[in-house]
Amino acid sequence: MKNLLSMEHVTPNEIEALITRAIDIKHGRPVMKLNDKTVVNLFYENSTRTKLSFEMAEKKLNVERLPFDVSTSSVSKGESLYDTCKTLEAIGADALVVRHPDNKYYEELEHLNIPIINGGDGSGSHPTQSLLDMMTIYENLGRICGLKIAIVGDIKHSRVAKSNAEALTKMGAEVYFSGPVELQDNTLNIPYIGIDEAVDFCDVIMLLRVQHERHESYAQMPKAEYNALYGMNKERMDNMKPDALIMHPAPINRNVEITDEVVEGEKSVIFEQMTNGVFMRMSILESVLDGEGSNNHAFEKRYAVTQ
Ligand code: NCD
Repeated sequence: MKNLLSMEHVTPNEIEALITRAIDIKHGRPVMKLNDKTVVNLFYENSTRTKLSFEMAEKKLNVERLPFDVSTSSVSKGESLYDTCKTLEAIGADALVVRHPDNKYYEELEHLNIPIINGGDGSGSHPTQSLLDMMTIYENLGRICGLKIAIVGDIKHSRVAKSNAEALTKMGAEVYFSGPVELQDNTLNIPYIGIDEAVDFCDVIMLLRVQHERHESYAQMPKAEYNALYGMNKERMDNMKPDALIMHPAPINRNVEITDEVVEGEKSVIFEQMTNGVFMRMSILESVLDGEGSNNHAFEKRYAVTQ
C-alpha cells in the first residue's frame, strides 16, 4: 500500500489483508525488520489514542520516530503543511502520519514521494480508526459481511462515522445511522433509525461523541436527556442481542452518549478497540514502509551520484 488517505481508496482485499496481519501480529507472529526506517507523526489537532498508539506501534516495530511538535516547529512562522511535509521528505523521513483540521488536507500532498497515513482530517475521514474497528468486529463476531451495524450520535461532524459507513458497506455490512436530526449528514446514502430500533436488531452499536469543539448544538442539553433520547444505557444494553457489541472510538462523554456502567459493561469492546489500535497501526506501517513506501532508494541514488 502506497498511502492510507481515506477508506475510499482501500479495496476489500486490502482491508482483509490488513486485518489478518494485525491479528497475526497480536498473536505474536514476527514483525518486519524496519529498524532502518524513520517516521514522523504530525498532529495539528489534539489526540490521545491515535497519536500514542502510533508511537507504540512505531516502538514495537523498532521504527525510528523523529519527534515533531507543531507548536515549536516553523508552522508557528506560517510554514505551510506542504512545505513542512516536503522538508521532512527531504531530510529522509520514510513516511508521515498526519492529523489535520482541514478536510482532505492530503490532496495538497499528492506530489510527495513518501507515504502519508491519514490520522484524521477534519470531519472527513479517519481510516486507521475504521480499520481497527473492523478488526475488533471481526475478532469478536468472526465476520463483517451481513452484520447489521448502527453508528449513533454526532454523524455530521464525525470522520469515524464517514470512514466506517464507507468501509463497512464495502465489506458487505448493513449500515444504519441514528441520532439527533440536527447532527445528521444527509449527503450520505445511509438510512436513519431510532436508537431503540437499533438496539433491537443490530449486531453492533457504535456510539459517537458530540463534538462540542466543532459546533455548539446540544451543549446546553442536560446529559440525562441526551442519553434518554439518543444514547446507550444499561436498560438498552440489556435489550441488545446476546452477542451484540457496543463500540466507541473515544474520547467518551460519560453519561451523555453512553452511561458509566456500560463503558466497561459485558457488551463493551471499547478498550479492546484501543488495544487493537496498536496492532492495526503496526500492520499499516509495515504495509506502507515495505518496498514502495521507502525513501531509501532516493538517498541511495543521491549518494551514488556524489561518489
Ligand atoms: C475520534 C477522532 O479524533 O476522530 N477519536 C479517535 O481518534 N479515537 C473521535 C472523536 O474525537 O470523538
